Amino acid sequence: MKWIKVSNYKDLSEEAAKIMKERINNKPNLTIGLATGSTPEGLYKELIKAYKQGELSFSEVTSYNLDEYIGLDINSPQSYYQFMFQKLFNNVDIQKEKIHIPNGNTKDLQVECVQYEELIKNSGGIDIQVLGIGNNGHIAFNEPGTSFDAKTHVVELDESTIAANARFFNNKDEVPVQAITMGIGTIMKSKEILLLISGKGKQEAIEKLKSGVVTEDFPASILHKHPNVTVIITNN
Ligand code: PGA
Repeated sequence: MKWIKVSNYKDLSEEAAKIMKERINNKPNLTIGLATGSTPEGLYKELIKAYKQGELSFSEVTSYNLDEYIGLDINSPQSYYQFMFQKLFNNVDIQKEKIHIPNGNTKDLQVECVQYEELIKNSGGIDIQVLGIGNNGHIAFNEPGTSFDAKTHVVELDESTIAANARFFNNKDEVPVQAITMGIGTIMKSKEILLLISGKGKQEAIEKLKSGVVTEDFPASILHKHPNVTVIITNN
């Protein structure tokens, strides 16, 4: 695990964008894994800037998002579908049919999970996966206690995750209690992982990750077992 410590959020976003740009320019038909949340927003702004300046094209890129709420309409401003289109996809030249976000509004969620996993596999796997980390150590919506082998599956969100995400809703009661998420097993199959950590609220998670103890009680700890992880971190 390679750690890159930077002094502020802007530097974190620029450093992450530099890596993504380099990977996409090296392999224009890259398969990328994308995350939502506050942390990667700056990265997406930098990627849009690079695209607009003609330094980068997403025209052959395939994307897979980590997760989506269950039961939230995709037109709802809090859906991860809306987040991704507003913060990135609407502003670059990615082809709509190459964008994948789990469908949390389908009747058969189990079929959706199996199909999502198959799609990733049939794309040849994810070349580089962007990740954030939750205060409780979750990666995507894999909450503490999730099996390290899990594939794409339905999860019940932790109280702490619901509380953390309530800032995006009118109140806590509006936050969905379930989501579809890539599993830790799915994430670990990515060829490269870019973990972005920003913010004072993540101190406990940072300490636990740095300790190197690998346990299902702290999902991000599995990343110590992955051969190609870069952590970009700022305390600010
Ligand atoms: P954040 O969320 O980027 O909004 O802090 C990260 C996460 O919960 O995985």
